[in-house]
Amino acid sequence: MKMTPKWWHDAVVYQIYPRSFCDSNNDGIGDLQGIISKLDYLKNLGVNVIWLSPVYRSPMDDNGYDISDYQDIAPEFGTMADMQQLLAEAKQRDIRIIMDLVVNHTSDEHPWFQEARKSKDNPYRDYYIWRQPKEGGSAPDEQGSIFGGSAWQYDEQTGEYYFHLFSKKQPDLNWENPKVQHEVHKMMNWWIEQGIGGFRLDVIDLIGKEIDKGITGNGPRLHPLLQEMNRATFGDKDLLTVGETWGATPEIAKLFSNPEREEFSMVFQFEHITLTWEHGDKWNPIPLDLPAFKKVLTKWQVELENEGWNSLFWNNHDLPRVVSKYGDEGQYRVESAKMLATTLHLMKGTPYVYQGEEIGMTNVAFDSIDDYRDIETLNFYKERTENGVAPETMLAAVHENSRDNARTPMHWDNSYNAGFSTNQPWLQVNPNYPDINVAAALEDQSSIFYHYQKLIQLRKSLPVIVHGTFEPVFEDHDKVFAYVRSDEQHRLFVLNNFTAEEVVLALPESLRTDNAECIIANYEHRQQLGEELTLKPYESFAVLMPA
Ligand code: NOJ
Repeated sequence: MKMTPKWWHDAVVYQIYPRSFCDSNNDGIGDLQGIISKLDYLKNLGVNVIWLSPVYRSPMDDNGYDISDYQDIAPEFGTMADMQQLLAEAKQRDIRIIMDLVVNHTSDEHPWFQEARKSKDNPYRDYYIWRQPKEGGSAPDEQGSIFGGSAWQYDEQTGEYYFHLFSKKQPDLNWENPKVQHEVHKMMNWWIEQGIGGFRLDVIDLIGKEIDKGITGNGPRLHPLLQEMNRATFGDKDLLTVGETWGATPEIAKLFSNPEREEFSMVFQFEHITLTWEHGDKWNPIPLDLPAFKKVLTKWQVELENEGWNSLFWNNHDLPRVVSKYGDEGQYRVESAKMLATTLHLMKGTPYVYQGEEIGMTNVAFDSIDDYRDIETLNFYKERTENGVAPETMLAAVHENSRDNARTPMHWDNSYNAGFSTNQPWLQVNPNYPDINVAAALEDQSSIFYHYQKLIQLRKSLPVIVHGTFEPVFEDHDKVFAYVRSDEQHRLFVLNNFTAEEVVLALPESLRTDNAECIIANYEHRQQLGEELTLKPYESFAVLMPA
C-alpha cells in the first residue's frame, strides 16, 4: 500500500519557543512581532511550517503550557491582531502555522477551573477531576506528578482533592465529560477558522486516563476520543496534526497515524531520547549507547511501513541541544552538528528543526540553580537535594538535561544579549553567542545554517528522501550509523560517523562507485567509494546512485 501524498510529507517544520525567539519591544521576553520580523530568515532557511509553542493567555507557571484563555494571546507576546498579522505574513511566504494545543489540562486560573473550585455543585465542577480525601485526610492515591510531588492537590474551599499530572497550577481536564470535549472542539474550530495550518497536541496520550485504575497514558478511552476530535474538527481539512506521545511504540504510533483510522497525521515518539536516561529518569543521565540508539531509530523507520508516518526530531523546548547531547560542542561542533542534521533529515518522516539548532546552539551550564527558570528543573533540584542527592550531582544533571538548555534566548548576532533583546532577558543568554549566532552563520557559506538549508532543498527535490524505503547498513557497527533509502529511480546511501575518531570501513560491492553523485557532505564531497573507506571525525555524506 502506498500512502496518499499529503503536503506535510515533504514539509520541514521549525519550532519556535516564543519566549526565547526574538523580543521586539525590549521587555526581555520574545513576542509575536519578534517572530514576524524573522519570517524572511525562516523563508531563507526553507521551512514551510512553524510550530509555535503556546502563546495563549497564561499565568506562565509552565511558560504557557498552563492556559487561562485559549482564545486570547498572552499580553507579553502581543495581541490577537499580532497573531492575525503573523498568520497573514507567514501565508504570504507559504509558511503555515501550527498551534500548540494543550488540552490535557488548563491553568488553575482558567475561568472553568475558577468556577469549578467554587462548589461541588457548580456546573463546571465536572470539567476537572475531583476525589474525596482518604480517611485521615490524605490524598486519594499515590499517583505522582510529572513535575514532582503528588498529582493531587487539596482544595480548602470544597474539601476535595483535584488531579494534576503536571504542576498544581495545571489541573487536568475531565475528558469523560462530553461538555469538555465539546468546548475543546469548539475552540479548535475557532482556531481553524483563523487560518492555522494544524495542531501539535500536547501530551495527548494522557487524555484517555482512568485514574481510579491507575492508568494515565494510552488509556482505553483515548482513541475513541481522538477519532471524535478528528470528526468534529480537522478531519475534513488539510491540516498537519502531530500528537506528543511519550508512551508510543511503533504499534501504538500506527493507531494514531494510520490514515485509515482518522486520528492524526503523525506523532512524536521519544524512545531514542530516553535511552540516555537511566531507568527513564532524566536526572540520572547516562552516555549514549550508539548501537541501541541505531536499533531504535531503525525500528521506527522500518516498522511504521505505510501504516503510519514518522516525525523526525533530535530536540525541542523540553530537551537538551542536540549537538551537546549526541555530538561534540567543542572542537567538532560544526562537523558534528552537520552530521546529526544529515542523519535525521535523510530519514523517512517529517523533520522538525528546533530554533537555534540550525546554527548549532549548545547547552548552557549556569553556575547556580538560581539562574534557572524552568519549573520542572527547580522542583526536581529541590526535591532531590532535600532527599540527599549532592547539589553538585544535581547541578551536573541539570547541565545535561534541563529544559532551560533549549530555552536560552536565540542568538541573532554578537551584540548585547545576542541581539535577542536590549533588556535583561527572562533567562540569561548562553555566553557563547559571540561565536555562535545567525549573523555569523549567514556570512559563512560553509556554516551549519547552509547545511540545513541544503538538506531542506534536497527533501523538496528528491522523492527518495520523502518516500523511499529504509535499509540499515553496518547494522552492528558501534561508531557509524548508515542506511540506504530506495525507490524506483534511486538509491541514497547515507553514512555518518558518530565519533571523534577516524573509522575505517570495508564497503560492500553494491555501495562502491567511481563516479559518486555526492549530494551533501560535511567535509569535501566524495568522488569515489572504493573497497576501503576512511571516515574523518564526525564525517557524514550522502551519495545518490541509480536504483
Ligand atoms: C509537554 C510540553 O512539551 C512541556 O513543555 C509541558 O511542560 C508539558 N507537556 C505540560 O503541558
